Amino acid sequence: MYHKERDSFPKDFLWGSASAAYQVEGAASEDGKGESVWDRFVQIPGKTFKGTTGEVAVDHYHRYKEDVQLMAEQGLKAYRFSVAWTRIIPDGDGEVNEKGLEFYDNLIDELIEHNIEPVLTLYHWDIPQALQDKYGGWEGRQVIQDFTRYAEILFKRYNGKVKYWVSLNEQNIFITLGYSMAAHPPGVTDTKRMLQANHIASLANAAVIKRFKELDIRGKIGPSFAYGPTYAIDSHPENQMAAQNNEEFNAHYWMDVYVNGRYPTVAWKHYERLGIAPEVEPGDEELLKAGKPDFMGLNYYQTNTVAANPLDGVGFGKMNTSGKKGTSEESGTPGLYKSTQNPYVERTDWDWDIDPTGLRIAMRRINSRYNLPILITENGLGAYDTLEEDGTIHDTYRIDFIKKHIEAIQDAITDGVDVMGYCTWSYTDLLSWLNGYQKRYGFVYVDREELDEKELKRYKKDSYHWYKKVIETNGEEL
Ligand code: BG6
Repeated sequence: MYHKERDSFPKDFLWGSASAAYQVEGAASEDGKGESVWDRFVQIPGKTFKGTTGEVAVDHYHRYKEDVQLMAEQGLKAYRFSVAWTRIIPDGDGEVNEKGLEFYDNLIDELIEHNIEPVLTLYHWDIPQALQDKYGGWEGRQVIQDFTRYAEILFKRYNGKVKYWVSLNEQNIFITLGYSMAAHPPGVTDTKRMLQANHIASLANAAVIKRFKELDIRGKIGPSFAYGPTYAIDSHPENQMAAQNNEEFNAHYWMDVYVNGRYPTVAWKHYERLGIAPEVEPGDEELLKAGKPDFMGLNYYQTNTVAANPLDGVGFGKMNTSGKKGTSEESGTPGLYKSTQNPYVERTDWDWDIDPTGLRIAMRRINSRYNLPILITENGLGAYDTLEEDGTIHDTYRIDFIKKHIEAIQDAITDGVDVMGYCTWSYTDLLSWLNGYQKRYGFVYVDREELDEKELKRYKKDSYHWYKKVIETNGEEL
């Protein structure tokens, strides 16, 4: 659908940007912080690009004031960050660490003082290692209580200060990569265990949302879901079916549960026939239904283009984590779908499709199927940047990427989709879980490399100045 003119952005639109604790904070064992599964996992040789760890990351823990100052100068309206569970309860279920809470007290106060709305993510992949050891982390039902207790501490402490809360970040990614592909902790390749851990994570997600409502916390809460709409490679009915499968198994399988408390029929039946469907206990369905989110957090990076994949077809292929274009392998689930190259879009150096229209499609599909407001909690371009001698960074490619995605959001608004805000990924450059530091996303360049921390000095990129104008004009000037 083409519009002659687009509607304006709502007056209170949240122009934001995002990060996650492990990727920015550093100070991995400071002030009583406990060990998380990522602190442990990265010690295994070969798991991350050049063996990078979050030990220092971009030192946000010590430089948060400087980072917030940069946000304030830019006019940022919202900053999404995550709390590290291991700072609050170092072993996951024991004593509360007041020092850990103090860091977030300070960060939140600093943001509010500068009129920046804090958007707090409860969980961005860093479950305490102690709980992993004790009962298998997300595989143990005890995590539902432990996660709720942790969330409740934050709800009560920041009630009235934090108005936007994200429950789980990209459950589909941390569960799939953690339990199917062994690319994230705990490094498992077992679909049955994956589905079981996922079911428990969904229950934990619902439990914290339910608790949020019971406590009457002033604000809104929802999960952030990694959704990239699927296209079929062509109109061949079997390829269309593959696209349908991909939506069902990789999107509805999570979002239907968040919103309606039930698994989609086709995926459920498929897993049942294979004997690997999760065990549902009495009370589970009620809990899932009671945890309905206020909004859908959308992390959008790219679309997926798929084709039919026979029963003896391809399985998981290697991801491109080196930044060498064209090194990602074909990947799929035999009998369901496999990835193919979309001939109509450009790709990044990490082989991610660049597709702004896909964002509009994602928003419209979420709107049609779930009828919830959308908060875009992540969107951005991972690219190589060059720091010039005079301290400038000319990231025109990033400006172009974000501009087109903002236009797509405006199109979706004009279509009638209810959008609360837009957080780019990421604010400063940060540690990419599997891709090191060379894959940069920020408005603010951080001078460090994988094996050389340098001085971690911050520099404003061209995109920083450009986004400042976008915010100032409420999206009128792109
Ligand atoms: C999302 C995550 O999956 O994508 C972020 O929520 C992550 O934590 C981002 O960094 C970009 O992915 P990557 O692999 O390029 O770092």
